[in-house]
Amino acid sequence: MKSILITGGAGFIGSHVVRLFAKKYPHYKIFNLDKLTYAGNLENISDLESLKNYKFIKGDICDVQLLEKIFIKYKFDSIIHLAAESHVDRSITNPLEFVNTNVIGTVNLLNQFKELHQRNFNGKLFYHVSTDEVYGSLEDTGFFTEKTSYDPNSPYSASKASSDHFVRAYGETYGLAYIISNCSNNYGPNQFPEKLLPLFINNVLNNKPLPVYGDGNYTRDWLYVKDHAEAINILFHSNKIGHTYNIGGFNEWKNIDLVKELCFQMDKKLGKKDGESEALIEFVKDRPGHDLRYAIDASKINNDFGWEPSVDFKNGLGLTIDWYLANIRWLENIKSGKYTEYYNKHYNL
Ligand code: NAD
Ligand code: TYD
Repeated sequence: MKSILITGGAGFIGSHVVRLFAKKYPHYKIFNLDKLTYAGNLENISDLESLKNYKFIKGDICDVQLLEKIFIKYKFDSIIHLAAESHVDRSITNPLEFVNTNVIGTVNLLNQFKELHQRNFNGKLFYHVSTDEVYGSLEDTGFFTEKTSYDPNSPYSASKASSDHFVRAYGETYGLAYIISNCSNNYGPNQFPEKLLPLFINNVLNNKPLPVYGDGNYTRDWLYVKDHAEAINILFHSNKIGHTYNIGGFNEWKNIDLVKELCFQMDKKLGKKDGESEALIEFVKDRPGHDLRYAIDASKINNDFGWEPSVDFKNGLGLTIDWYLANIRWLENIKSGKYTEYYNKHYNL
């Protein structure tokens, strides 16, 4: 029975990855290690609690003693590492927290994995989940390929870039078996309402302003979260040790167009008049160091495995809105005092 450690499995993407693996592979034992920061939520994975091949461990990847204990006890064959501080705006106000979790936490995991397997990584894998933001920013044309030089601009992307470098360095230096994937912006159910889409869905529901940074002419490539989880599943089961893969949606949107599409769909679903939600848009002070454009060339994973997004963006956006509408309680539970405190401070309210 394979013993797999998934970190950050109570968060947005991690919860979808844990579910896919625990349900699809009953013969794998899945351990989900998560600190349950503000972004981690056991409600995201409450349906998995009764599964025999699944175990949740509350803990911090910076807690070396805990890591030693669980690595010795459960002898993980593989790790899928998603735990991270993930929000760019928070990284601007508190960079050190990003260094601790994203860099030091990752190195802690690499050390434990190296010690456990004593340089014999046959049949073992450290799968590191990363972001396209490590490549920096594009002008109006061109794409990030796996060969694009790293050029991170935010403390978040710098910390992720650093963690990618450490994973690669452990591969070169100690022969550690790794795969890294760099994915574009994810959207879908269970995303914490500080990121663009869930924040704006929540604000439309509460008739609050939609704070678009700068002129809104920033471009992101959006991928439905379950398509990302499936790409991870494919790469995890491949033999592409030492490879990196870009994962993207072939789906670029300028923020302002995306927000207008969201408003259009929400007006329809909520029975509002056309344009009612759009009227909530407010252009606010820009994010410092705001990357203009991300665009992924995902032809390597497409050529090697035939992977491509299965969810069309407008449908996926509809599914996402429907999920939030059906899970108002999930949203309300999250919006604790701390959330409101962060929101008011960040948006100067
Ligand atoms: P998230 O913020 O929703 O979840 C992160 C999870 O990690 C939370 O459950 C949190 O409790 C946990 N965590 C944080 N610090 C921890 C620590 N010190 N020890 C243990 N657990 C800890 O993030 P997400 O959006 O699901 O992103 C998951 C991963 O995917 C991250 O590595 C991120 O860089 C990467 N990624 C995200 C996107 C995106 O669009 N969201 C795109 C590409 C890559
Ligand atoms: P975000 O969801 O934070 O993801 P990332 O910064 O990792 O791409 O933001 C997506 C885009 O939306 C980004 O260009 C910043 C912009 N944005 C706003 O305009 N207003 C907001 O309130 C937020 C949170 C983001």
